[in-house]
Amino acid sequence: MVFKIAHLSDLHLTATDTEKRFEPKLSGQLTGMNQAFRQIAKHKRIQAADLVLITGDITDQGDMESWSVFNDTLKASSLRDKTLAIPGNHDVCELMVRFGNKTKLAKADLEKVKKGLELAGQPSKFPWAKIIAPGVVIFGLDTNMSGNLTALENAIGQIGDFQMQKFAELLAKHDDVPTKIVAVHHSPNIPEASTALKRGRSEPTMIYRWSHQIPRPDRFTFRMLCRAAKVRLIVHGHLHEAEDRRVNGIRIIGAPATTEPKDFAAKKKTYRFYEYAVEERKIGVELVEV
Ligand SMILES: [Fe+2]
Repeated sequence: MVFKIAHLSDLHLTATDTEKRFEPKLSGQLTGMNQAFRQIAKHKRIQAADLVLITGDITDQGDMESWSVFNDTLKASSLRDKTLAIPGNHDVCELMVRFGNKTKLAKADLEKVKKGLELAGQPSKFPWAKIIAPGVVIFGLDTNMSGNLTALENAIGQIGDFQMQKFAELLAKHDDVPTKIVAVHHSPNIPEASTALKRGRSEPTMIYRWSHQIPRPDRFTFRMLCRAAKVRLIVHGHLHEAEDRRVNGIRIIGAPATTEPKDFAAKKKTYRFYEYAVEERKIGVELVEV
């Protein structure tokens, strides 16, 4: 039997439908994310999926009104019971500058995202593992730097020793499940400039690499654990780019931002998401455009 997973990411939902996305692109600040998500949620490919997996940045600024838009849309499109979502930095971190005690701020940040996830019927303790079909398990991690003080740090990932230890335990517990998929928000690997160019992509700057991926000790341990446990696929969001690559023997797929049109200038806007067709130990991958 084929089990289909629709992988969405970076919805950046806002409190009202007219609000602009926080971060500008060259073409200006994006609007219409709520409407795009409502439309995509009703699409037959999403409706036909057995599971909808969303890798973070559900909301643009982490407020409860935006989480309500998410929850209402899931309900209206009958997706709530088959959705698994993990948080991204926009759901958790402060996007500007703030002062205070990092530990206290981190606690408040986690409390805020917990409320949002729970409103939408989502697991809020990390890491988690869910058997979604016979022989298929998905692990969800929180890779966000809660308690950040400046905008400079808000996009950097982190897993942390405690979560890494728990993740290792969960992997061991599910050792006999043949197909393991791991979901994180941040990229566990942004290529060096030479590799990016070889793959036909633009050259990532040092600042971009430093500020958008999980830092080195965490990402090395994470990838080693995944490799040792024979994880089949790591999926992530955050970069808003469709990217499918293999690093040290593990396939890693980065999803585009689902509510961001592929071509901003196009008259008829199209949107993209990945679909994974899991059958026994095989995973078919398709970048769907709707
Ligand atoms: Fe994002």
